[in-house]
Amino acid sequence: MDQMHAETAPPPPSAVASRPEAPPPPPGLRRYLALDDFQAAARRRLPLPIYGFIAGGVERDAALRGNHAAFAANALVWRSLVDTSERTTAASLFGRDYAAPFGIAPMGASAVAAYDADRVLAGAAAASGIPFILSGASLTRMEEVIKVNPAAWFQAYVPGETPRIEPLVDRVAAAGFDTFVLTVDVPVSGNRENNVRNGFSIPLRPSPRLAWQGITHPRWLGGTALRTLRHRGMLHLENMDATRGPPMLSREAVRAFGVREALNWRHVELVRRRWPGKLVLKGILAAADARLARAAGVDGVIVSNHGGRQLDSAAAPLDMLPGVVAEAGGMTVMLDGAVRRGTDVLKALALGAGFVFIGRPFLFAASVAGAPGARHAVRLLREEIERDMALLGVTRLSELGPDFVRRTHTCP
Ligand SMILES: Cc1cc2nc3c(=O)[nH]c(=O)nc-3n(C[C@H](O)[C@H](O)[C@H](O)COP(=O)(O)O)c2cc1C
Repeated sequence: MDQMHAETAPPPPSAVASRPEAPPPPPGLRRYLALDDFQAAARRRLPLPIYGFIAGGVERDAALRGNHAAFAANALVWRSLVDTSERTTAASLFGRDYAAPFGIAPMGASAVAAYDADRVLAGAAAASGIPFILSGASLTRMEEVIKVNPAAWFQAYVPGETPRIEPLVDRVAAAGFDTFVLTVDVPVSGNRENNVRNGFSIPLRPSPRLAWQGITHPRWLGGTALRTLRHRGMLHLENMDATRGPPMLSREAVRAFGVREALNWRHVELVRRRWPGKLVLKGILAAADARLARAAGVDGVIVSNHGGRQLDSAAAPLDMLPGVVAEAGGMTVMLDGAVRRGTDVLKALALGAGFVFIGRPFLFAASVAGAPGARHAVRLLREEIERDMALLGVTRLSELGPDFVRRTHTCP
């Protein structure tokens, strides 16, 4: 066989027993070959303040770059001559089976970037067989989102105020969620200078500059902003508390976040006592905190630095992962931050993650192409994992371990 062809052509579909029968992507989506392609398109589609809010990190973006660098600094080592014709990307998490070992991370204010984004992403995850986490800072009522995806998880931003925590926990349980994710890496808002420079703020303040950005991005103006106003009215922070929060444009929006810097392990214990389902802490970096989480009866942790959006120069989750895994005991360890390719997913799994979550690319995909875009993004990544498993010589994700990864000194 021609060598070039052998290296570039994907395997024939019949070679892979586990491949689900998915229809081909709509013609308009065929030019998106990888997750990064959606970011390039979203940059053109979205007003700069909104694009910058999603894409950016904090201060000098050192943590954001570090997240990507950590993946570049780990290379993969394959095993040769393994029959992988029966391979599968299937993975289970908290007793549920999924089509792939990745899910959609919680993203607040998503509906500003893509029409009905919370339901679009929840629905795409359900249709694709992957997990979805609804953000506590989302703009769609949790009760509406769980109708679209009954397996969705809920992520809460709770202040260190017991009277606000308990009613929220009760509302999430009454809505039917079975997994409660408590984000613990936002004691205060990160110093996102790019938002200030670009004119993005919460509350969103109308200004001539913002208006100009809208006019010069007509597809976002018509397809997201005006469509939202027409069909959904003014967006509110819907899920910060037991009752509806303030509108995005109101000064009260900031107050809705409460005194988050007072949050501590006693509140985790309080949630643990009140929440009957699985409890996950998101934003753990230190192995010592994994030990405390385990002692508090937590079921899982997401090793994360919030996608490099909180403390600049925070360590990369991938670098902290083995230490957390060593302290996890029976807890499930997950990771997020800069996972963009199938090879990244496999590196994280080889270093001990049970599952990974991905944020920005899925929101970019929804903002440029709605639900079909989000589904296409999921499919691209799943297919990469499947192809990479054959190249790596594994048939099950559980076969992965540290021997498949070698730390390099290559600069990204
Ligand atoms: C626009 C945006 C909004 C986010 N909002 C939340 C949020 O409401 N709650 C939360 O726990 N994390 C939030 N995050 C962080 C993500 O859940 C996740 O940790 C991060 O995006 C992962 O990195 P990645 O985007 O490089 O995949 C947000 C991230 C982005 C990009």
